[in-house]
Amino acid sequence: MLYSLYTRRLRRLLAGLPKPEHVAIVMDGNRRWARGAGYDDVRIGHRFGAKHLEQFLQWSSDAGVTCVTAWVASADNLRKRDSAEVDYLMELTESVLADHVRRDHRWRLHVAGQLDLLPDSTARALKEAVELSRDRDAGDLTLAIGYSGRLEVVDAVRSVLDDAAAEGTSLEEVADRLTEEEIGRHLYVPGLPDPDLVIRTSGELRMSDFLLWQATRSDIEFCDLYWPAFREVDLLRALRTYGRRRLERSS
Ligand code: IPE
Ligand code: MG
Repeated sequence: MLYSLYTRRLRRLLAGLPKPEHVAIVMDGNRRWARGAGYDDVRIGHRFGAKHLEQFLQWSSDAGVTCVTAWVASADNLRKRDSAEVDYLMELTESVLADHVRRDHRWRLHVAGQLDLLPDSTARALKEAVELSRDRDAGDLTLAIGYSGRLEVVDAVRSVLDDAAAEGTSLEEVADRLTEEEIGRHLYVPGLPDPDLVIRTSGELRMSDFLLWQATRSDIEFCDLYWPAFREVDLLRALRTYGRRRLERSS
């Protein structure tokens, strides 16, 4: 009751504030959440976490956010965590995340990351969901998976050089012509606006190689809650802080 009053109050307040077009979310704290809730099996935290993204997308779209990037797993997570945990994350990506995109007709899906780090079935499920959602225009959802911000920049530069080699352009010309825009066009998901706001849950105060290129000018909100415990009011509060800061800066 109190919660819904508070939610409505926040929504009213947000109506008068600038709002972000693109919100990026670092969904951190699944395992700590699971342990804190008394589950020995941390995979339960990942399951709640994956399902939780569906709610977050609903809240975001209710709040008028049309572009969301969600960090599902870093390249390091896939390389360094034990294989049973990684297998389970991949299974969730297929059965929860890709499946959600199939069913929720709002979101056009993009994938950022090194798809060759993923098992074939996961890469295939994501590619199919990208194809299936290609013509949707209500919102853009990017799943960052097997993602590293530094590697994204390396891959972008490599792709600029590959194109130049294919066209027979000399290295001198490439160096001469290289601009921010040119690198931007070779990122994993070109054409999206930069994130206005990045939210990280679980109280960790780091960017951890997320959206290195795209988030240089983003506002950042750190939230102490573990990802599965993050509520709509926490999103609305982050949007309120963002809106107030933007107002101050523009005045
Ligand atoms: C976030 O939760 C999900 C992934 C990175 C895959 P964590 O698995 O990082 O959970 P904590 O941070 O260890 O609690
Ligand atoms: Mg973590």
